Amino acid sequence: MLQFPTSEIPIQRIINKKGVELFLKREDLIHADISGNKYWKLFYNVNSYLESRPRRPFIITFGGAFSNHIASLAAFGKIFNIPTLGIIRGEEWREKVSDNYTLHGASQNGMGFRFVTREMYRNKDTLTDDLKREFPYALIIPEGGSNLKATEGVKFMLNERTKDFDYLCTAVGTGGTLAGISRHAEENQKIIGFKVVKDKRLLENVKELRGKSNFCFYEADYGGYGKITELMVHFINHFWITYNIPLDPVYTGKMMMRLLQLIEEDFFPMGSRVLAFHTGGLQGIGGANQLLRKKNRNTIDIKL
Ligand SMILES: Cc1ncc(COP(=O)(O)O)c(C=O)c1O
Repeated sequence: MLQFPTSEIPIQRIINKKGVELFLKREDLIHADISGNKYWKLFYNVNSYLESRPRRPFIITFGGAFSNHIASLAAFGKIFNIPTLGIIRGEEWREKVSDNYTLHGASQNGMGFRFVTREMYRNKDTLTDDLKREFPYALIIPEGGSNLKATEGVKFMLNERTKDFDYLCTAVGTGGTLAGISRHAEENQKIIGFKVVKDKRLLENVKELRGKSNFCFYEADYGGYGKITELMVHFINHFWITYNIPLDPVYTGKMMMRLLQLIEEDFFPMGSRVLAFHTGGLQGIGGANQLLRKKNRNTIDIKL
């Protein structure tokens, strides 16, 4: 079973600027291979799976070639000795598994892959129905692990200490984490979701996952999902040197950059206490650096 962490997840103070205090809750420290929100999104999914395991011999999920969720589920499969299958967006990756940091790591952890075209991937409902027919006994977890069980697990990111904050912030991909925070936050807390992806269905997703109406979105895709600008590389390196906290370039780096901008722009009233969740994703640095090196660009200088 996935366990509750034995020690408190640290909350670190980042800055006190313009009368606003900003803190970061280090969910990335929960587990070396299943870190951040992935741990909590998988918590109920995998624990209930483990109980029903004799009837369900393996797990299938979906993701891109750099997906943190794919990496986490593969690590989970390795730890509990469960076969896993990843449905990967983009047929071009079939021949390039060993060149891709995430896929290579997942494959080392025993995950098998099926590579599908982007069009097939977009049609996930059809794909899921086909997989259900082919593998009637498998547990199928959606992209990003975002289902209602995941949003229930996210409640463990909140506790007595997080009640003290006026704003709770998270990066948003599929919306599961935001929905969970929104549902389990205190009445007086406001939630900000930093969108790292342009997805018109996001609001609908969060509502389907029973998010309340206590949140708002801020754009933070900085050139598009997975795009890494020179400024972002510089920001992450600077953050590392200044606070000794690693950020990933796809989610947490983008959230923190936008969040610091909002403080500069006086978005938060004086005296606000703001808590951002570090949702992990640090395995993504390896893949990002591979791409940056290929393009002869500056890399993210964080040694984990
Ligand atoms: C590191 C990291 N942060 C944030 C998110 C966003 O979570 P969600 O997909 O639940 O919106 C993800 C995606 O799962 C992620 O990998």
